[in-house]
Order: sequence, then C-alpha cells, then structure tokens
Amino acid sequence: MEIKAGIFVILGIALLSTGVECIPRRGLSSAATVFDITQFGAKPGGKKDSALAMIRTWNKACKSTEAAKMVIPAGKFLAGEVVFQGPCTAPKPIVIEIRGTLVADSDLSVFTSNYWISIEHVAGVEVTGGGTINGRGEDVWKFDAGEKIKNAPLLPVSLVFQAANHSKIHDIKFVNSKGFHMKVSDCTDFNVSKLHITAPGDSPNTDGVHISGSTNVNVTDLVVGTGDDCVSIGDGNTNLLVTKVTCGPGHGISIGSLGKRERETDVNGVTVRNCTLIGTTNGARIKTYRASPQLKASRIIFEDLILDNVTNPIIIDQDYGSKKKGQPSKVAISNVHFRNIRGTAAIRKPAITLTCSAAVPCKGVTLANIDIVPVEGADGKLKPNSCLNAKPVFKGKQNPGAC
Ligand SMILES: *[C@@H]1O[C@H](CO)[C@@H](O)[C@H](O)[C@H]1NC(C)=O
Ligand SMILES: *[C@@H]1O[C@H](CO)[C@@H](O)[C@H](O)[C@H]1NC(C)=O
Ligand SMILES: *[C@@H]1O[C@H](CO)[C@@H](O)[C@H](O)[C@H]1NC(C)=O
Ligand SMILES: *[C@@H]1O[C@H](CO)[C@@H](O)[C@H](O)[C@H]1NC(C)=O
Ligand SMILES: *[C@@H]1O[C@H](CO)[C@@H](O)[C@H](O)[C@H]1NC(C)=O
Repeated sequence: MEIKAGIFVILGIALLSTGVECIPRRGLSSAATVFDITQFGAKPGGKKDSALAMIRTWNKACKSTEAAKMVIPAGKFLAGEVVFQGPCTAPKPIVIEIRGTLVADSDLSVFTSNYWISIEHVAGVEVTGGGTINGRGEDVWKFDAGEKIKNAPLLPVSLVFQAANHSKIHDIKFVNSKGFHMKVSDCTDFNVSKLHITAPGDSPNTDGVHISGSTNVNVTDLVVGTGDDCVSIGDGNTNLLVTKVTCGPGHGISIGSLGKRERETDVNGVTVRNCTLIGTTNGARIKTYRASPQLKASRIIFEDLILDNVTNPIIIDQDYGSKKKGQPSKVAISNVHFRNIRGTAAIRKPAITLTCSAAVPCKGVTLANIDIVPVEGADGKLKPNSCLNAKPVFKGKQNPGAC
C-alpha cells in the first residue's frame, strides 16, 4: 500500500513539474477517445523508462467521461513497475491497446511488489492490440530460488489482473516473463483468449496463465510453451472453462498446487476440454501439498485431450511438496472425470497415476475412453497404472488397462 502511494506521489510531482496538459486525440475509426502514451511522455527505443508516462496516460483514460482507449503504439517501450488502478469513470470497456512491445526493466530492485504490470480494482478492461509483453526474464531467472531458500521473493509476474471484473485479454504475445506470464486474481466474468506465450522449457516458474480466487473465467485459443504450467488453476476458483490450449514445452495443465497456505478456499467446477499437449511433463494434473489445511477440489473434468510424448499423462498427486513427509494432504478431491484422452506418452512413468491422500481419499473419480501408447521410438513400455487411496470407475476403452 505504501509503495503504491509512493508511485502516485511521484506521479503528482511529475504532473506538476511538466505543467503541460496533454490533449488526447480522437481516433478516426473508433468512437473512443485515444490516450496515446507518447502524448504523456513515453519514448520508444527501449532506453527511457516509460512507466510514469503509462500511469499518467491510464489515469487520464480512467477519469475520462467518454469512452477511452489507451494506446501503446508501435515501438519498444521500457518500463519498470506499473499500476493501472480503478475505480474509473470512463464507460466500459476501457481498452488498452498494445500495438508495440513493452519491455520490462531488467533491474529487479525496481519491482517492489511481485508484479510488473497490475490492472486492479477496475471493472470492464479490455487488453488487446496484437503487441508483445516482454518480461526479460532471461536476465534474472538465475535468481529464482524455487523452494530452496526460505521466503525467497518470487520473481515478478508480467501482467496481473486483480479484482478486474467483466474484463478480457486477447490477441497479445507474451515472452520470457520473470515470474508467471499472467495472473487473473479475484476476478468475476473474465475472458482470456488468443494469447501466444513463450519462454524456454528450462526457465523457472514461468507459468503461462495462473488463475486464483476467480469465478466464471474462460480461457481459450492459447499457444503456450514455457518452463512451467501452461495453465495453472490455484485456489478459490469457481466455474472455469479452459479450451483449445496447445501446450508445450511445459508442465501441462494443472489444478494446484493447492493447500500450501493456510487461508486457501475451495476449487469448484473446472473443465479443461479440447486441448493438445506436446512434450510436456504432465498432461491433466491435480496436485496438492502434504500437511495442507482442509480444502475441497470438486467437479473437475478433463476431456478431449490429445497428448504427444507426455511424461505423466493423467496424474493426481497429493504427495506434493518438499517437506513434511508422512503428513497427508487434507485437500478432499471429488467428482473428477478424465474422458477421451488419447495419444502418446514418454515411457518413464505410468499413463495414469492417482496418488490420493490417506487422510481424505479421492471420491468419484472416473476414467473413460483412455488410449495412451508409448511414443514412437521409445525403447520400452509404460509403467503399470498406479491408484493409491482412490477407487476410480473405468468406462469405455482403457489402454493401458485399469489400475
Ligand atoms: C467483482 O465481483 C465480485 C463478485 O460479484 C464482487 O464481490 C466484487 O466486489 C467485484 N469487485 C469489483 C472491484 O467490482
Ligand atoms: C467472453 O466471451 C464470450 C464469447 O466467447 C462473450 O459472450 C462474453 O460476453 C465475454 N465475456 C467478457 C467478460 O468479455
Ligand atoms: C464462458 O463460456 C461459456 C460457454 O461458452 C459461456 O456460457 C460463459 O458465459 C462464458 N463466460 C464468460 C465470462 O464470458
Ligand atoms: C477440438 O475441437 C475441434 C472442433 O470440434 C476438433 O476439430 C479438434 O480436433 C479438437 N481438438 C482436440 C485436441 O480434441
Ligand atoms: C519424448 O520426450 C523425452 C523427454 O521427456 C525426450 O527425451 C524424447 O526425445 C522425446 N521423444 C520423442 C519421440 O519426441
């Protein structure tokens, strides 16, 4: 909180010191008033920091009384931490059109929170424009401590939507985030579509899209290849639909990790449908921490998935985390359906691994029409399916057979 106040104080000084009011241009083809960041001091070229100019532009667009569109034009714009905050007076949606490339500062000390760009407490934002959000993670991935160092700071997420109801993002490219590429937190009615997200397969914690605390979120038409989950679904989500995601390299499409922190809330209603996973470590995955608080994850469907050389095609892992061995997870998993999942697997693991909790065994798990064979050229067989603390119901085709 202090940090954000600080930014606005600096902003106020910047506005006073320039003393010039910018006159926004009217767009020719659209009714919205255009607020172009170069009118507010942003400079292309990728050398001068444009964060304050972007915040000033947003504040003008936000406080507009007419339909507003903030434009990041063609060119390369360098920026440190940026907060676009509501509530706004402009009619919905406020469009943020990224035509050029936003490039993050590579100096970690300019990021005082765990994000680079945050859009928060505003309803009806639309981020689009075909441009690129480049996190420049390659300069800082070496500082990612994972779980090795206690309380190590997480590297900043490139773009966070926090309490941004009735909003959407589409037609944007993300590359090389420092931490996650984007996060949807505490949002209701949110669409994520037509994103292209890339980072190297060995980059740490570079999840594509992470969703938590949100209701009615649709994620569709993504191409994601990163060093971590393509789509990760955290706690507190209700009614999520993930479709037409092509994932790889990466860790697959995952619900979890759940149960790491004390005050997490349930996951209720997630459908992952019509996705393709290529060379990922997991396909359809649910993972929960050992020694977790009590929590529920239910009404989960993974269906119509095509796999190509996936290491753990179908996996529930309730024995996750590096610590507290022997203390079972208390995340109760129920009503989970894996259907129409076909393709090839790497040979090191079973096609189906259900490692449920001894404290709260999985309930109501079905597997229907599963057809998974070793990837072509693999010299060996899949390990036998493994089902622990689960009594799944098998229906239709099962290749390899049941547990
Ligand atoms: C977003 O929607 C939720 C659920 O309807 C509501 O509780 C919350 O106050 C809304 N947030 C904002 C910033 O409008
Ligand atoms: C999300 O997209 C669907 C169409 O796919 C549309 O009907 C809906 O209004 C959109 N929701 C938001 C919040 O933009
Ligand atoms: C998500 O998609 C479903 C089914 O297509 C639709 O009913 C729902 O309104 C969509 N949600 C949003 C937030 O647009
Ligand atoms: C997704 O759905 C489309 C249209 O129904 C279909 O052509 C395509 O093969 C499906 N892809 C997967 C991975 O199931
Ligand atoms: C399958 O993936 C493994 C790594 O998980 C890789 O070593 C192997 O070359 C891949 N095989 C094919 C046929 O792509």
